[in-house]
Amino acid sequence: MSDVKKILLLPGDGIGPEVMAEVKHLIDWFSSNRGLAFEVEEELVGGCCYDVHGVAVTDETIEKAKKADAVILGAVGGPKWAGVEYENRPEAGLLRLRKDLELFANLRPAICFEALTDASSLKPELVAGLDIMIVRELTGGIYFGEPRGITDLGNGERRGINTQVYDTHEIVRVAKVAFDLAEKRSGKVTSSEKSNVMEAGLLWREEVEKLHKEKYSHLELEHMLADACAMQLVRRPKQFDVIVTDNLFGDMLSDEASMLTGSLGMLPSASLGERDASGHQCAMYEPVHGSAPDIAGQGLANPIATILSFAMALRYSFDMGAEADLVEEAVKGVLDQGLRTADIMQPGKEKLSTREMGAAITRELDKLTTKT
Ligand code: IPM
Ligand code: MG
Repeated sequence: MSDVKKILLLPGDGIGPEVMAEVKHLIDWFSSNRGLAFEVEEELVGGCCYDVHGVAVTDETIEKAKKADAVILGAVGGPKWAGVEYENRPEAGLLRLRKDLELFANLRPAICFEALTDASSLKPELVAGLDIMIVRELTGGIYFGEPRGITDLGNGERRGINTQVYDTHEIVRVAKVAFDLAEKRSGKVTSSEKSNVMEAGLLWREEVEKLHKEKYSHLELEHMLADACAMQLVRRPKQFDVIVTDNLFGDMLSDEASMLTGSLGMLPSASLGERDASGHQCAMYEPVHGSAPDIAGQGLANPIATILSFAMALRYSFDMGAEADLVEEAVKGVLDQGLRTADIMQPGKEKLSTREMGAAITRELDKLTTKT
């Protein structure tokens, strides 16, 4: 990779552009204060792209995304496009990016910031210090399986079909990512499926088990049925470290895990592909939250999830762990000072707009870096 990091920004719909604006401020901060060289481009994705081009993402944007060192996406979707056919819905743009860039490993950390322990709907002692990493398979399973569709059975009945399908290599490559992450964390992986009712789940379990025996037997592997996993996540979430699961269960378990932390507005994600022979790896970073059309354009959105997504880009795509730590520390700093956006507002704290929160974070970066 050359020294200039190529970043493609895809702000998208709803609150996407507002939270992305704060990432731009952060990029500027790193360019002026840390001498980092970024080449930044911006394109449309989602409903805003459909309005202009009639598709949720263009071929040109897909090509740019493939060449970028990191894609940062805001959010897509909104009621405005609810009637649009599936293949051109805003969500289809996101799914195509994931599929075409082969971003098979979706990392969704659920971290409970100390200052927000009380914001969780669970008892503080259950979530204090929580730090889970959900690794969701992102390019296979029922999201993409064939056959799919709605057929007319001709007798007044219709049939909706989706197919859950996994091949060995799809399971093994995502499980590897999970084991490699666990190696740098507490060393425990929980693999979750429904092997009691689904063949695809049984294959998942057997392949993860085999990989563990062959390469990762020094780590702890536990299998847990997805329904039990959902239950244990709210019962005793701190028993988990890395959870690896398929596309659909990962979608649900990561939403559930996000709520343990108090706010969806705080959680970043990284979607990673395989590194090619030249060392290039496709990667996309996005907040876990959606486009929140109801609060769009009002300065109410929390930019922290997108800012932390940028921190993940620094860590996983640019190999700038120290810089990523710095961003995470700055976020922690502003929370410790009692600064809050509306979604995480608590009595006695100071309420900030999206822009003010972004500014508070860069101010904190100034503070952290002049101290050292
Ligand atoms: C997510 C979202 C998406 C998904 C939607 C927007 C297609 O819920 O990233 O979790 O289901 O994967
Ligand atoms: Mg989801």
